[in-house]
Amino acid sequence: MLRATELAHLVVRQSVRPGDWAIDATVGNGHDTALLAGLVGPSGRVFGFDVQEAALSAAAQRLRGLEQVSLHLSGHERMASVLPTAARGRIAAVMFNLGYLPGGARAIVTEPQTTLAALDQALDLLAIRGIVTLVGYPGHPGGADEAAAVRARIEQLPDAFSAARWGRLNARAPVPDLLVVERVAGPARPPP
Ligand SMILES: C[S@@+](CC[C@H](N)C(=O)[O-])C[C@H]1O[C@@H](n2cnc3c(N)ncnc32)[C@H](O)[C@@H]1O
Repeated sequence: MLRATELAHLVVRQSVRPGDWAIDATVGNGHDTALLAGLVGPSGRVFGFDVQEAALSAAAQRLRGLEQVSLHLSGHERMASVLPTAARGRIAAVMFNLGYLPGGARAIVTEPQTTLAALDQALDLLAIRGIVTLVGYPGHPGGADEAAAVRARIEQLPDAFSAARWGRLNARAPVPDLLVVERVAGPARPPP
């Protein structure tokens, strides 16, 4: 069975094309950033966010020479103010891999409030047919609450978005699941 992270990569491969702009909201060791950088190619752009300097320096090694990538030592909840204004409506994919950095400090973990703020901004930045992927981990303290909060927010999204969830049905212990949101129509226009 494919893991949630592998499925996220498959979904992103379907959606991102050369020249696109994309965001890795949780860079960590840079695996997702590297995937996005390969898909958008030298004519595209990838913006990466993480709050850990150690994570970003590991990722920078992996991403050496990929000029299309810019890494930001910043919480993803600030993404809208860090990105150029031209990014609004042209982001093809935003990847979230929640939780803590494997092999890193477990105390540095994504939190529901900032994750939800970042999710709202990510949805606002999406192009039509653009997607957000979120892998959530219910197994660590706070992880189940974060996953539930994210799911609740996504269940309330208007018809401009289409959302789906993949997870294992017969697991004996909590396992990560994947949520995918696609923008299927433009933002509602204010009445004239
Ligand atoms: C599961 S790891 C990401 C793994 C990564 N996708 C990879 O390929 O290696 C989660 C990451 O989220 C980061 N993080 C925690 N809070 C954050 C925030 N507010 N904004 C951005 N990143 C955050 C952690 O520092 C950690 O590196």
